[in-house]
Amino acid sequence: MISDKPIAVVLPAGGSGLRMGGPVPKQFLQIGHKPLFEYSVNRLCTYPGIGFVVLVLPPNFLTQYEGLCASYKNLILTAGGDTRWQSVRNGVQVLPPGIHGVLIHDVARPFIPKSVVQTCIESLMAGKNVITACRATDTIKQVDGSCVVNTLDRRAIIQVQTPQAILHADLIDVYQKIDKDQIPHSLATDEAGLLEFAGFKVHWVEGSPWLKKVTTAEDMVWAEWVAGLLLSGKLTLDD
Ligand code: CTP
Ligand code: MG
Repeated sequence: MISDKPIAVVLPAGGSGLRMGGPVPKQFLQIGHKPLFEYSVNRLCTYPGIGFVVLVLPPNFLTQYEGLCASYKNLILTAGGDTRWQSVRNGVQVLPPGIHGVLIHDVARPFIPKSVVQTCIESLMAGKNVITACRATDTIKQVDGSCVVNTLDRRAIIQVQTPQAILHADLIDVYQKIDKDQIPHSLATDEAGLLEFAGFKVHWVEGSPWLKKVTTAEDMVWAEWVAGLLLSGKLTLDD
């Protein structure tokens, strides 16, 4: 399937960063020369072939960042919801009609390799819903409280990242099908979970170690280091 309809991006940035702690949600913390969320905005607003980018912010941060729309002409801002998937849905709802597919990407993963974006766009063009992921490297065990109950086969485990690339029509279908209260928590933390819940097929493609999510204060040390590598040109993520 080749589509001439545009590809859009939704960037959920509406969380409160509870695991990071501190007075300001983690997406607004400075890394290198800009706030964490702006790495994704910059990468994806300037990516060839992306028609629209929706940045989903906590409602009380909308005014502070409305000036960004002057710098990025394809950027739309909107307010987030109580959970990540509701924030993403708010973002999808403000897109203009006629979108082919949507790349959903957590701004908490500031360093996006070009090759990963390209693979996601190509998958959408081929009519496939894909998530990005890396194979598990640690041994994975199921536990019950402090007790180990089962050891899973690591070769059959992937650790899921974003971007996740979903056909627009499927996303709309999923939102119509789900009733918030019925989604188990384990399925509501990413779009693939919603698709699985609604019975859609989801494929996975190789993500990247650079797509690690900034969750805790320790991750900020890593993010500062990577931002430094990018600034000095030692790392480009443009291959
Ligand atoms: N997110 C969102 N709206 C929410 C919750 C999360 O847009 N109601 C976004 C976050 O801003 C982040 C992404 O979803 O970019 C992934 O979420 P996570 O890393 O869990 O961030 P937080 O929910 O902010 O952090 P925590 O779970 O520690 O509170
Ligand atoms: Mg969260």
